[in-house]
Amino acid sequence: MKREHWGSRLGFIMAAAGSAIGLGNIWKFPYMAGENGGAAFIIIYLGIVFTIGLSLMLAEITIGRHTQSDAINAFKKFNRPAWSFIGILGIVTAFVIFSFYSVVAGWTIAYVVKSATGAFSGMDAAAIGDTFGGFVSSTVQPIVYHGIFAALTVLVVLGGVSGGIERASKILMPVLFLILIALVVRGVTLPGAEKGLEFFLSPDFSKITASTVMAALGQAFFSLSLGMGVILTYGSYLGKEANIGRSAWQIALLDTMVAILAGLAILPAVFAFNMDPAAGPGLTFVTLPAVFEAMPGGYFFSIIFFVLLTIAALTSSISLLEPIVSFFSTKGFTRTQATIGAGVLAFLIGIPSSLSLGAWSDIHIIKGQGFLDSASWLTDKILLPVGGLLICLFVGWVITPIAIREVSGEGEPSALVKAWIFILRFIAPIAIVMILLTGLEIVTL
Ligand code: PHE
Repeated sequence: MKREHWGSRLGFIMAAAGSAIGLGNIWKFPYMAGENGGAAFIIIYLGIVFTIGLSLMLAEITIGRHTQSDAINAFKKFNRPAWSFIGILGIVTAFVIFSFYSVVAGWTIAYVVKSATGAFSGMDAAAIGDTFGGFVSSTVQPIVYHGIFAALTVLVVLGGVSGGIERASKILMPVLFLILIALVVRGVTLPGAEKGLEFFLSPDFSKITASTVMAALGQAFFSLSLGMGVILTYGSYLGKEANIGRSAWQIALLDTMVAILAGLAILPAVFAFNMDPAAGPGLTFVTLPAVFEAMPGGYFFSIIFFVLLTIAALTSSISLLEPIVSFFSTKGFTRTQATIGAGVLAFLIGIPSSLSLGAWSDIHIIKGQGFLDSASWLTDKILLPVGGLLICLFVGWVITPIAIREVSGEGEPSALVKAWIFILRFIAPIAIVMILLTGLEIVTL
C-alpha cells in the first residue's frame, strides 16, 4: 500500500505544532512558571527547548522521513531491529499519556458547557473550588466527557493523514491562535495586570534550583511531544523535498510562543484579581473561572478559553492515536479497525485515571499517588526521558552519517548540523540521565 503523505509542508507544520501545542502549554506551563519563580523558569525553559528539545525533534523527524515508516518498523529498516524497542515503548507511552490526557480534556469540554450555562455565576473562588472537586470526584460525568473527547479524537484520525489530521489542524490551529490573542489582550489590559506581567517577565534567579531545571526539561519533552515516536510518525509522512531542519525549528518556535502567550493570557489576570499564581493544577479549573466571574466580559472569555483548551487538547490527542494506528495498519488491520480498536482501548485505560479522583482515590500506584497522578509521573519522569535518551543515542551514535545526509543533503554539513550531532551525542544524554536519576530519587538535588 502506498504511504499517505501530507498535502503540503505547511500542513505538516500545522499538524506537528498541533501535536506539540496542548494541555502542556495552556494548562501546565503557566502553573509551572507560577510555582517556579516566573521569568527565571521561562529563561531556563527556553534554553532547554532550543538546544536539547530542538535537537531531539530534528532527530525524530530525520528517522521518520528517512524510513517512511511507523516508529517500530523504522528501526527495522535501518537493520537495527533491537532498537525497535523504542517504538514499542512509544506505543505504551501513547496509551499512558492518553489515559490522563483525555480525562483532563474531558473536563475542558465540561467547562465549556458549564461556562455557557452560567454554572459559576455569582460564585467566589472557594465555591468554584468545591464545584470542581465535586465534579472530578463524581463517577459518571467525567467518564462521559472523557468518552466524548476520545470519540472526537477517533473521528479525526479516521479521516486519515491529510484528509483528517491535516485538515483538522489547518482549521483548528488558526482558530486557536486567534482565541489566544484575544485572551492575551483581555488579560494584559485589566487594571492591576502589571504585577502579573512583572512576575512573568522579570527573572528572579534565586528561585532556580536543580529541581527547577529538571522540571523544565521534563516539561520541554512533554510540551514538544518528544521521546515517544509521535513526531517521528508525523515526519514519516513528509516527502523528500521538505526542509526538515527549518520545520523542526518552526514547530519548536510555535510551541514555545503559545506557552508564553498562554502565560500572558492567564497570569496577569490572576494577579489583577489578587489570586495565587502558584495554585498548581487547579489554576485553570478553579482560579481562572473565579477570575472570569470577576472580569468584565468574563462570560464570553470563559467560554472561548475552554474552547481553546479543548482544541489544543484535540490536536494533541490525535497525534497520540496516530502512531498506534500507523503501526497496526502494517499488521493487516484496516485504518478504520485500527483507529476504532485503539480508541476504545485508550478510552478504557483512561477510566481508572478518572475514577482515581473519586471512587478509587484510595488506590495508590506509584509513590502513594492514584492512577492519574501516577500516569503523569511515569510519563514525565521515566517514559519520555527513556525514549528521548534512546533516540538521541541512536541518531547521535548509531546512524550518524545517514542522519547527517538526511538533514544536509550531499554537501558538507554546516556548523549547526555539527552542533546538532554534538548535542545528541553528549549534552542531551547527560541531561536526560540527570532527569532519570532525580526522578527515581537515586540522586536527590
Ligand atoms: N505536547 C502535548 C501537550 O503539550 C502533549 C503530548 C505529549 C502529545 C506527547 C503527544 C505526545 O499537551
